[in-house]
Amino acid sequence: MKTGAGSTRARLRIAVLGATGMVGSRVIKEAGARGHQVLALSRKPAGEHPNVTPVAVDARDAHAVRDALSAPDGGAADAVVLTVRSMPVDQEFLVAVTRTVLDVSARLGVRILVVGGAGALRSPDAQDLLVADDPAYVPADVRAVAAAGVAQLRTCRTHAGGDWVYLSPPALLEPGERTGRYRRGTDTLLADADGRSWISAEDLAVAVVDELETPGPDHHITVAHQGR
Ligand SMILES: NC(=O)c1ccc[n+]([C@@H]2O[C@H](COP(=O)([O-])OP(=O)(O)OC[C@H]3O[C@@H](n4cnc5c(N)ncnc54)[C@H](OP(=O)(O)O)[C@@H]3O)[C@@H](O)[C@H]2O)c1
Repeated sequence: MKTGAGSTRARLRIAVLGATGMVGSRVIKEAGARGHQVLALSRKPAGEHPNVTPVAVDARDAHAVRDALSAPDGGAADAVVLTVRSMPVDQEFLVAVTRTVLDVSARLGVRILVVGGAGALRSPDAQDLLVADDPAYVPADVRAVAAAGVAQLRTCRTHAGGDWVYLSPPALLEPGERTGRYRRGTDTLLADADGRSWISAEDLAVAVVDELETPGPDHHITVAHQGR
């Protein structure tokens, strides 16, 4: 799959909650570069691109989230990308914030894309095993992080109404090169021929904006690096 550059799609109003993070900052850069109008939401607002408006929002505050997603002209954002996390992992926080953003988005008719965890995917080695429960991918010391992602996906699945998609990264997600290419899957972890399951945060951001511009039919998707 090769997309991104030279898009001629309609200009979207995209809110990114977690704007200062590894993923959020790259989604903002990608969306801004494609000419979309971006609301960069985080507790410490940041963003210097002309298409980007920084807004101070605490994701735990439902009123603040609603105000941020509602436009001054009475309209609403077209989409919100939820890409927050706490350090150390706090499953209760993640589930509560996800529910808040699902609630507000459903009320306003805003599409929501959650950047979640690889743990919520099926293991490529055993379809009835989640990555979160597969020690081949998730060592004991990061199990709580993987379990929080599983709970976050469950929160989406059990939410009444709302237009959501949950994007699980591959096992390894780190800053790197923007190639503009990636492989796309649904609910099973993608790995290359050597067993490596990874993508750069830059290419994940390409996939996020592609999904917002051209929504697919699946509620749970994943992406991974694609070589030449
Ligand atoms: N392989 C994998 O499965 C994998 C790997 C990496 C990341 N991820 C997932 O990708 C997502 C993004 O991760 P990341 O690495 O980009 O995280 P990150 O760099 O730690 O950034 C977290 C973001 O959350 C924001 N945030 C935290 N608490 C907030 C609150 N109460 N209100 C508003 N914003 C808040 C922070 O902004 P402020 O502190 O400025 O408010 C920051 O922008 C997470 O869901 C993470 O689990 C998955």
